[in-house]
Amino acid sequence: MSADAWWKNGIVYQIYPRSFQDSDGDGIGDLAGIRRRLDYLVALGVDAIWISPIYPSPMADFGYDISDYCDVDSRFGTLADFDALAADARARGLKLILDFVPNHTSDRHPWFIESRSARESPKRGWYLWRDPAPDGGPPNNWLSHFGGPAWTLDEASGQYYCHSFLKAQPDLNWRNPQVREAMFEVLRFWLRRGVDGFRVDVLSDLIKDELFRDNPANPAFVPGENPLLQLLPIHNTDQPDMQDIVFEMRRVTDAFSDPASSRVLIGELYLPLPRLMHYYGRNAEGLLQGVQLPFNFQLVGAKWLPAEIDRIVREYEAALPPGAAPNWVLGNHDKPRIASRVGPQGARLAAMLLLTLRGTPTLYYGDELGMADVPIPPDRVQDPAEKNVPGKGLGRDPVRTPMRWSGEPNAGFTTGTPWLPLGEGWAEGNVEAQAQDASSMLTLYRRLIALRRREPALHEGSYAPLAAGPEVLAYARAHGARRLVVLLNFGATPAPIPSQLLGVDAELLASTHADGEASLHEGRMLRPLEGLVFASAPA
Ligand code: NOJ
Repeated sequence: MSADAWWKNGIVYQIYPRSFQDSDGDGIGDLAGIRRRLDYLVALGVDAIWISPIYPSPMADFGYDISDYCDVDSRFGTLADFDALAADARARGLKLILDFVPNHTSDRHPWFIESRSARESPKRGWYLWRDPAPDGGPPNNWLSHFGGPAWTLDEASGQYYCHSFLKAQPDLNWRNPQVREAMFEVLRFWLRRGVDGFRVDVLSDLIKDELFRDNPANPAFVPGENPLLQLLPIHNTDQPDMQDIVFEMRRVTDAFSDPASSRVLIGELYLPLPRLMHYYGRNAEGLLQGVQLPFNFQLVGAKWLPAEIDRIVREYEAALPPGAAPNWVLGNHDKPRIASRVGPQGARLAAMLLLTLRGTPTLYYGDELGMADVPIPPDRVQDPAEKNVPGKGLGRDPVRTPMRWSGEPNAGFTTGTPWLPLGEGWAEGNVEAQAQDASSMLTLYRRLIALRRREPALHEGSYAPLAAGPEVLAYARAHGARRLVVLLNFGATPAPIPSQLLGVDAELLASTHADGEASLHEGRMLRPLEGLVFASAPA
């Protein structure tokens, strides 16, 4: 097995630690809870877990505001708990990926406290400090993702600091070599503890325009939308100098790779395709020296139409640089859940899509149960994105609700009061109940994951689009002589299976419908919203 096989051919599972499993009754998930559930993940069949931030944090942005990069927040446990989790994961052959948040710290981080203490502070240059504009206002028009300007005035020193997110999340100055080295040392701290890789938060934003120029207006802005979209962020995101940083970061993780297993970098990058591809970091010799998996979010906001998805997959495949590893995602802790976007039956089709496309799939916890967005009553809202820009649907609490383990109180998530409501439907829609039910979403996920693991055509084979009618997304995956056909009927009416695709002696391997129509007899139609995988030799 090659050293990179695990992240190229395997499956990643994202855990939002506050919501996975509480072990001490405080209503917030923790590391000991995750540890208790490792066997569930092994049985599910995933290869790696990515855990959203676990570091000490004032929790202004639920862990994405870090006050110490080299420790564990007491709500989640201790470093000893982390080591125990890492050891147990390793013993089960599960890889462990942590979240790395390099763009900003918490305003409670000692670096920022020192930086803020005086203009002459040795750490002043670790953050982005600027004098006010001539009118006393912010130095330029950049906007924060969480509403309002990306600048806050520090009264004491009379300068503004930049924050792409909350004012409690000051942006680091990645042009400063000391910052780079300190942050790379953070990576080494965790790599030495045996971490297998990092998901890198807002990787595109680390470097800002050196001249701090205003962003231009967005001519396509529709009043009433998210105010962030008023400007085109051409001067504070995806700057040309990012490439060097990505190369440097990769050198740090590569130094810890060994012949048996390589360390991986996964970049959070909401960018158009050509720009996204840049982050694979192809150098003059054609070697890929950037992040191994620049997150591919094309499906996250996609119109759920077969022609649209077909286009997205083709364009992505065509844009990949030679040798680049593709990857696919349906959702995450920031985006609406797939079951809410496409409905319960559509989510079964989406599961088949995700687990049969060419490229590393990342699953979001709870999607394997078909969990949908949970409405959050106004008095339970936690997310600053909702609090600061209310009513625009930007709040992420609905997708971060507790995992549903059993029919016990609070779905077995906590013995205390859960930090977010469970919502409805968990009495039936939980792991324990679905594990017994041959027609459940969990059973479908387990079958599809097992199929993907078993079939080299699925985890490392080629991809070729096929034609099978306007409502049907069709493609082949092949490895050596083995050829699998995937047909996904997005329509509300039955669709024929073209006989040339069925070929000879077709063998049905999976259906999204778990009701026993388990054969590919003559005249078999795809049922409404049915997906099929079969092995077939072309006729
Ligand atoms: C992206 C993360 O996924 C999101 O949850 C967070 O709020 C921002 N980055 C800021 O770190």
